[in-house]
Amino acid sequence: MSHHSTIDAPAITIPHLQQWARDGRRLVMTTAYDAVTARLADPVVDMILVGDSVGNVCLGFDNTLPVSMAMMNHHLEAVARTRPRALLVADMPYLSYHLSLDDTLCNAGGFLQRGAAAVKLEGGEKRAETIRALVECEIPVMGHLGLTPQSVHAMGGFKVQGRAAEDAVQILEDAHRLEEAGCFALVLEGIPSELAARVTEILSIPTIGIGAGPHCSGQVLVLHDVLGLTQGHQPKFVRTYVDGFGVLQQALTHWAEDVRRGVFPSPAESYALPAAAHAAVSAWASDLSTRS
Ligand code: KIV
Repeated sequence: MSHHSTIDAPAITIPHLQQWARDGRRLVMTTAYDAVTARLADPVVDMILVGDSVGNVCLGFDNTLPVSMAMMNHHLEAVARTRPRALLVADMPYLSYHLSLDDTLCNAGGFLQRGAAAVKLEGGEKRAETIRALVECEIPVMGHLGLTPQSVHAMGGFKVQGRAAEDAVQILEDAHRLEEAGCFALVLEGIPSELAARVTEILSIPTIGIGAGPHCSGQVLVLHDVLGLTQGHQPKFVRTYVDGFGVLQQALTHWAEDVRRGVFPSPAESYALPAAAHAAVSAWASDLSTRS
């Protein structure tokens, strides 16, 4: 478990992010699930999210519902060990904030003790009381509205939300309630651009969009999507900047070929045996050949 002192506190804090958003500087967040992805992302982004998307991106699940606190803690600890300068946000998985307030506080507080600076949880005004209790316990909360993946069954699939008039108004109401409850920022996922723009306008906290158009205070994408490491169908809001899977698999293929052709490792990639040891090894081998 990492314990941040004042000296090695994350360089980017919530007040920084809120000031930057007020100044019109767009905020950037991506996911990381281990030390490698954290080191890739940290110099580039303002916030790192240890998302429960680890379930479908890395662990082979179809959705985020099977992700547990134990899994999240494991991945958060790996990311936190890199001591990122970006604000580290940990995603509360399904059932980690639904059962009781004690359980919720314990789970969220455990994230902070493992190095997160904030937690994220999904849902609208029905979460307001929970969010108030967390904030009361010095646990900063990022809200998450619109297409909330933990509600996949209730939504009937991963569908854009807020297209019907009453749903759009409910999202505005939810956003207002979440700010009132004390959220420091809000993820808006899978909602029409104009609605996200309106939410951003009525709130004084930053909005971070994913599939929510260009008018949010910032954007978040899953790192593996940006880097082309995710296989299969990509939603239209994802922009992939490199065929990471193809590039990396090609490199692996070259190495496998070199092994099979006997050209890896080269002498430069091997260790030489010093002369004295070489003589001793030869002597032992010739002695062996004389044994009956
Ligand atoms: O789990 C996650 O990665 C997320 C982001 C996509 C916002 O919740």
